[in-house]
Amino acid sequence: MCGIVGYVGPRAAVDVVMDGLRRLEYRGYDSAGVAIVAQGQVALAKKAGKIANLDKALAEQPLPTDGLGIGHTRWATHGAPNDVNAHPHLSADGRVALVHNGIIENFVQLRSELAADGITMTSETDTEVVAHLLGQAVAAGSGLGDAMRAVCLRLAGAFTLVAVDTDAPDLVVAARRNSPLVVGVGEGENFLASDVAAFLQHTREAIELGQDQVVEIRSDSVLVTTFDGKPAQVRPYHVDWDLSAAEKDGYDWFMRKEIYEQPKAVFDTLLGRRDSRGALILDEIRISEAELRLVDKIIVIACGTSFYAGLVAKYAIEHWTRIPCEVELASEFRYRDPIVGPTTLVVTISQSGETADTLMAIRHAREQRAKVLAICNTNGSTIPRESDAVIYTHAGPEVGVASTKGFLTQLVACYLLGLYLAQVRGSKFGDEITAIMEELEHIPAALELLLDDMQPVLDLAAEFAAEPSVLFLGRHVGYPVALEGALKLKELAYIHAEGFAAGELKHGPIALIENGLPVFVVVPPQGRDMLHDKVVSNIQEIRARGARTVVLAEEDDHEVDAVADVLIRLPKVSTLLQPLVATVPLQIFACELATRKGHDVDQPRNLAKSVTVE
Ligand code: G6P
Repeated sequence: MCGIVGYVGPRAAVDVVMDGLRRLEYRGYDSAGVAIVAQGQVALAKKAGKIANLDKALAEQPLPTDGLGIGHTRWATHGAPNDVNAHPHLSADGRVALVHNGIIENFVQLRSELAADGITMTSETDTEVVAHLLGQAVAAGSGLGDAMRAVCLRLAGAFTLVAVDTDAPDLVVAARRNSPLVVGVGEGENFLASDVAAFLQHTREAIELGQDQVVEIRSDSVLVTTFDGKPAQVRPYHVDWDLSAAEKDGYDWFMRKEIYEQPKAVFDTLLGRRDSRGALILDEIRISEAELRLVDKIIVIACGTSFYAGLVAKYAIEHWTRIPCEVELASEFRYRDPIVGPTTLVVTISQSGETADTLMAIRHAREQRAKVLAICNTNGSTIPRESDAVIYTHAGPEVGVASTKGFLTQLVACYLLGLYLAQVRGSKFGDEITAIMEELEHIPAALELLLDDMQPVLDLAAEFAAEPSVLFLGRHVGYPVALEGALKLKELAYIHAEGFAAGELKHGPIALIENGLPVFVVVPPQGRDMLHDKVVSNIQEIRARGARTVVLAEEDDHEVDAVADVLIRLPKVSTLLQPLVATVPLQIFACELATRKGHDVDQPRNLAKSVTVE
């Protein structure tokens, strides 16, 4: 996730900004930059790679030590992670410098408007468009604050913007919509940052900026307004976290923080996927519609949690497109002489984009002339670079080794791919696709509600902390959820956990059921088919044999009341989308149980975030 820092005050701004960027390194980034306004000019330095590269550039060509400054660590979304795409970006006349966190949804349209004004882009970023718009506004006579308010009203999407103007040498202006920004209030100096970690060593007094607000900081004042210029209510608070808690936003683990970031991660992954007529646009797909119409088989390849996202994808893709879809572990794929050809679409799912097993599998697929589409969270990583097309999940960097928001956003990307293929091939009507997209767009709000009510799951983890074994059952898309629930528990709590297809129970696993064994069961939504009732019968079978049943069922499903020892309520969603909500309590359960056992949740033993060896 991008990190942002701004400073105005008596210290050397370049040092304060660079120090702030270092404190935000934990957020993950691929390039960094800083801009200083001093002596009526913008002095700029930006570099791909680690902050050490920027340090080196600054050592060779120092920036002024007076003036005010802004800085940025970038996590690429639009455009590769290189020097040119790194922030800050400048307006055409070099007067305004800007850093940005988020996604400008309507940047293509704004870019053509700027092109009509004769402005050409130097980078591939969506951000640069905003720098030019601000530049035009201040050149026309607006103050930087007014310019920011006016420009924000033209932007769609999610953004935090921080800008400086050579004509305003005592002012840093920032705006916020759907991306984080806090103001650090000092004495005779003020700060802006993505989170308080960046300025905690200078001040513990902060103001959280609300949605659609603009803040203007000078060394002795902080002025907050709405986008339309009205004075805004500010919420000052005192920060009493230490630095390590501040990095985790007050959570005990990055993983827990990332679980709670899922509404936003899902929201961001859905941003900008529909045009003004509602049709799906996946502009990172570099495979022609004609080629997609010829596809006669899809093979999804992935490892670990990403593989389970692939299992869900199969149900959705086959249902919506009627294209046969196989799902395969990347480590197995190329060793079985798979049947792959030019009309096969290979879909790889990888959070990191660097998993060696997955990479080797796509190289093999491409040798057989298959088209490869990557679903990936890491812009510029090897797997998307070696693929014909890519859908980025916009989860932001995931620090916890066990994937959480990575998984949920992979599910979203798989649904988007399925719907896009259905649109291109005409296997679903436009209004059907729109209805599913609208349901997806309600998921972030449903996740917020779900996450607000997780105390029963925390209590359950306390109760089960000493259990040696836990089973998970699910059916249809609930089956991959069961597998993922079990994997999370293995990874984090180091206890025996297995996920089974509920229908398979009678073919073996039921022999494991004994008195008191905890069994989680994901119950499908109540619907017309028999799926729901079959799973309820499965619960009865295991309960009769002494299992303690933890039932995950939708909120008004009362048929499960009598068979559940513990009931976890899920928001009402359609069957295919249920993994988006059903997985969350299982993530929280594993995280909490591991915490109770005293394990390192973010760095479980023997595991690596990205496995770069086969
Ligand atoms: C490792 C991680 C897992 C992850 C898997 C696949 O095993 O510990 O959390 O699911 O790799 O990673 P990828 O980056 O390819 O999604």
